[in-house]
Amino acid sequence: MATEPVSTTAAHPNLTVLTHPLIQHKLSILRDKRTSKKTFRAVVAEISMLMAYEVTKDLPLVPVQVETPLETTTAYQVSGKKLTLVPVLRAGLGMVEGVLQLMPSVRVGHIGLYRDHDTLQPVAYYFKIPPEPEARDFIVLDPMLATGGSAVAAVTSLKEQGAVRVRFVCLVAAPEGVERMREAHPDVQIFAAALDRQLNEHGYILPGLGDAGDRIFGTR
Ligand code: PRP
Ligand code: URA
Repeated sequence: MATEPVSTTAAHPNLTVLTHPLIQHKLSILRDKRTSKKTFRAVVAEISMLMAYEVTKDLPLVPVQVETPLETTTAYQVSGKKLTLVPVLRAGLGMVEGVLQLMPSVRVGHIGLYRDHDTLQPVAYYFKIPPEPEARDFIVLDPMLATGGSAVAAVTSLKEQGAVRVRFVCLVAAPEGVERMREAHPDVQIFAAALDRQLNEHGYILPGLGDAGDRIFGTR
């Protein structure tokens, strides 16, 4: 069944689906199983940049005095100097480059997690973020929000280090993952290009786009 993208659903107040036509167009390329690894990588970067534009549209501004070639004027700059990207390894790495094109000065932390194939439980293997987490606005990047185990574990580990402001950006979300995040971290807003139908018996999102990490890195 073809469904039109919707921006918000009453059922998931913690979810914003980004319905911009370019985001939806690029997502359709990613869903297509015929898309080559090279194109998949490039389009993940492109869609991530477009999503970052939307995800940051409420960032506070501060006035600054600027001298143009003609006179002094008041202009506006993003006030938060502490915006921090946190890709969840591996697949989240594919989203970093595109976001950095928009915000080249931001810091980047890393959280290493993989989902055990049998239990679907997240297994943590790496954690490194910049200092002063309590002063930062974190944007966690992971293309897939399936059961939500990895996303919840990533946010939990950030909060354990002192993080207080966290957004989660994914390409495709399953209802199960959105709800699990709402139960564990109701303060974390999720931004997705699509809310898909369900998970299959192996925890893969349907219709989804397959295994994001394998498609980015060519490991299958
Ligand atoms: C994928 C994906 C998420 C996780 C989502 O990673 O990138 O991190 O699965 O599933 P969940 O919501 O059920 O936890 P995977 O574990 O395949 O690791 P990879 O990125 O190293 O391929
Ligand atoms: N991880 C993926 O890469 N894809 C899914 O559909 C679910 C988890």
